[in-house]
Amino acid sequence: MAKKMLEVKGLTTKYVTRFHEDVYAVDHVSLDIEEGKSLGIAGESGCGKSTLALSLMGYYFPPLHYMSGDIIVDGKNISGLDPDTVRKTVLGSDVAYIPQAAMNALNPTRKILAFIQDVIRAHDPKANKKDIKDMAIKRFEELHLPREALDKHAVELSGGMKQRVVIAVSTILSPKVLIADEPSSALDVTSQKVVIKMLREMMDKGFIKSMIFITHELPLLYNVTDDIMVMYAGQIVERGSAKEMVFDPVHPYSRGLMRSILVPEDGTRSNKLVAIPGTPPNLKRPPAGCRFAERCKYAMPSCKYNSLPIMEFGEEGRSYRCAHSVEHLREVYANEDRE
Ligand SMILES: Nc1ncnc2c1ncn2[C@@H]1O[C@H](COP(=O)(O)OP(=O)(O)O)[C@@H](O)[C@H]1O
Ligand code: SF4
Ligand SMILES: [Mg+2]
Repeated sequence: MAKKMLEVKGLTTKYVTRFHEDVYAVDHVSLDIEEGKSLGIAGESGCGKSTLALSLMGYYFPPLHYMSGDIIVDGKNISGLDPDTVRKTVLGSDVAYIPQAAMNALNPTRKILAFIQDVIRAHDPKANKKDIKDMAIKRFEELHLPREALDKHAVELSGGMKQRVVIAVSTILSPKVLIADEPSSALDVTSQKVVIKMLREMMDKGFIKSMIFITHELPLLYNVTDDIMVMYAGQIVERGSAKEMVFDPVHPYSRGLMRSILVPEDGTRSNKLVAIPGTPPNLKRPPAGCRFAERCKYAMPSCKYNSLPIMEFGEEGRSYRCAHSVEHLREVYANEDRE
């Protein structure tokens, strides 16, 4: 059996706000990724994707608080470590994280090589400048990035190049898990493809041992990740292979996400474009039962009161969280598609 690079069990975190209205943004999330594999996480804005990304690093600072659960990276449990230890021993090497809009957050007055020095010296304060430069040049060449970019300031690079550089800088220590939060969202379609190709190449070359790719667009993940999870209101509602999730989504919310955006690469699909009515619930007071009940057209009266666990079904690795059986949902969808 392939080695697990990341295993997360029941991770629960919340934002503690000034007025004691805590935001329960990550609720009992469990997931795993094998070596060499990638996992996409999709869901609308406000569903907790970025909070999950932050929480997975095991690096907590207010207002985000760790509540419970385990984060095991290549056999090492990083939950409950103090922030200083996480910064020195986990970030960059065990888990690398590219925040949403990272490329726009780069300090424009610093050179790219200086950012690489920061990442390496956080782990090895004595690393010398020449070794760091040699390492950076080698990695940039391997990734077909111009070595001159190392001596440039962030402000001198184009959007697409800046994002590729951010990825190269963040992964210079060849992390076991890369978490990329909406890495292609701010880019034009051409740059988006280049960034995605680069991430795949980095996986193939072993520069990253596993990857989590976060996006609000479920169909985008079809050609990018092996598996996909859909997140709604702080919870995982479905998981499966990318192909199953795109062509046979079972949870009503996953189906809604699929139908609300057309598959960019695939002109053959005949799904109608349908927006999901409503918005995700306020996570200060999450609904007691199914969190999607307010917006679900298949909801039954009991859905508002019964909170369900995520349940496995069918092929290995497939799971969903809904009161209807998979067979029933598939039948309903098939009838709708015939209409
Ligand atoms: N610093 C914060 N303090 C309090 N609440 C926050 C903070 N950041 C995000 N939230 C809330 O947490 C929830 C999840 O947000 P987020 O993780 O950014 O979702 P997504 O990335 O899916 O758009 C939202 O309700 C958001 O308002
Ligand atoms: S549990 Fe009920 S409300 Fe929730 S997704 Fe299933 S049918 Fe819809
Ligand atoms: Mg986000």
